[in-house]
Amino acid sequence: MSQSFDVLVIGSGIAGLSFALDVAKRGRSVAILTKKDKADSSTNWAQGGLAAVTALTDDFPAHVRDTLAAGDGLCDPKVVRAIVRDGPECVRELAEWGVRFSRGPGGGYELGREGGHGARRILHVKDMTGRIIEEALLKAVAREPRIALFEHFFAIDVITRRKLAPRTPRGGDRVLGVHALDVRDGRVLTFRAPVVMLATGGAGQVYLYTTNPDIATGDGVAMAWRAGVEVRNMEFIQFHPTALYSATGRRFLISEALRGEGAVLRNLAGEAFMRGVHPLADLAPRDIVARAIDAEMKKSGAAHVWLDIRHRNEAWLRRRFPQIFAACRALGLNLARDLIPVVPAAHYVCGGVATTIAAETSLSGLYACGEVACTGLHGANRLASNSLLEAVVMARRGADSVDRYLRAVARARAPVPDIPVWVDLGGGDTDERVVISHNWDELRRTMWDYVGIMRTTKRLERARHRIANLSREIQDYYWNFSVDARLLELRNLLQVAGLIVDCALQRKESRGLHAIADHPRKLRTARDSRLVKK
Ligand code: FAD
Ligand code: SIN
Repeated sequence: MSQSFDVLVIGSGIAGLSFALDVAKRGRSVAILTKKDKADSSTNWAQGGLAAVTALTDDFPAHVRDTLAAGDGLCDPKVVRAIVRDGPECVRELAEWGVRFSRGPGGGYELGREGGHGARRILHVKDMTGRIIEEALLKAVAREPRIALFEHFFAIDVITRRKLAPRTPRGGDRVLGVHALDVRDGRVLTFRAPVVMLATGGAGQVYLYTTNPDIATGDGVAMAWRAGVEVRNMEFIQFHPTALYSATGRRFLISEALRGEGAVLRNLAGEAFMRGVHPLADLAPRDIVARAIDAEMKKSGAAHVWLDIRHRNEAWLRRRFPQIFAACRALGLNLARDLIPVVPAAHYVCGGVATTIAAETSLSGLYACGEVACTGLHGANRLASNSLLEAVVMARRGADSVDRYLRAVARARAPVPDIPVWVDLGGGDTDERVVISHNWDELRRTMWDYVGIMRTTKRLERARHRIANLSREIQDYYWNFSVDARLLELRNLLQVAGLIVDCALQRKESRGLHAIADHPRKLRTARDSRLVKK
């Protein structure tokens, strides 16, 4: 069975939903495929907010400067300027779709502050910014008759001309659609379209400890990579400095916005250790704060450090951070009275599928936006709250370029080849599937232990070796078993882990989020790390 659309969107977070709305507005038929419930996304969990210049006391050059400083010499300044400049217009568009950011007593936006920002410029809805955005966009999508939303459809791979006819030269390759698993009945269906937008989010699940939801398994990066598309800067994994420490291993985020309101990090001796580390102290960029916490924990052997916001009263904290207040409460902690145990956790992938400022990848018809993409905005370390900004700006820019591409496709009238149906090589011993969860655990621990905040070449090589062994085993499963979501996710995670390690081994310097003991200095010239499948 196959269905045809003008545009397929993979993912229903801020990037996928806002792109779908923008492209449907231009009269295109759109299918959104999403692998779990429609709201399951990192977007839904975002707390701090969206960075954009809206205050009279702020300006574009200041936001650009802060982004470049956080990115440690690797941002593309043209891209930074373009995305920052588009911010306010996209904020207006979000308002049209129903997003109501928190406002202060005077009626203006109540702006938050986070690490690396020299000014208050974070629009937020208390500490539930992502949930409110996700709800508003899903409602807007439900009102749009040109968009069909398919929940529990797992995109497996992009179908390209070259896959059907391997002699097609790379330059003549283009997108024809995707194969997707209907997770609820196990069938693989074909969705046909000349355009596929990858909006699949991040890959935090590649690490043992992460702030990310379960959907964050790097599927889009792995799909693009398998389709021969360039992937960039995957070594820059952002570890958020302050996830709530708990013995269960789950890592609930404690937003940086608390430090924006004066919270201070303390070691177990009670010392505010960030003061000696960076002029911005607790509001230094994330790479610096996470490394400082890691160093404190290694020095003392402690399992966490403390976050202290006891200078604020309970009523204020309950109003400004209701979600975080409740999560701490569930562990018997009161933000107004107790020190909060926090640890770094894998949070965001700064690299990804290489795109232009129009969201185009190196494959005709394949686009990417949101966390899956690498536009050049974040460089070696993302500035806080620039992710929601980038997603919504790039979705809009992507919609413009997709519209142009579809007009060119219509003019060219190229014949569309038949796509063979998916053949299930099938079956396989279900008892054997326990190997999938064992390998999953081994991968996540390997990445945490060997490809974490502080790296060495030796540990990276050890990780590469383990990943190669696990990948061989899982490839064997892929070809001999009926596919299911867990197997597909593990296959993708292994591919992404390999890309992170390969990029990390390419970089012979310490820069931004990539700190490696063998190469402690920064090279004079900053270069992206780039990988393309042979
Ligand atoms: P997501 O919102 O993650 O959506 C990805 C979608 O793709 C999901 O619907 C998923 O199910 C789907 N998908 C994935 N693979 C497949 C597949 N194979 N087939 C079908 N569907 C698939 N950033 C900020 O700027 N400000 C913040 O305050 C902030 N807070 C954060 C707090 C937390 C706890 C986390 C985890 C992240 C936070 N971030 C924040 C980062 C930001 O939320 C994400 O980078 C951003 O939401 C990503 O949006 P996205 O649309 O690219 O991906
Ligand atoms: C946070 O609220 O600390 C997360 C913000 C972000 O990831 O940009």
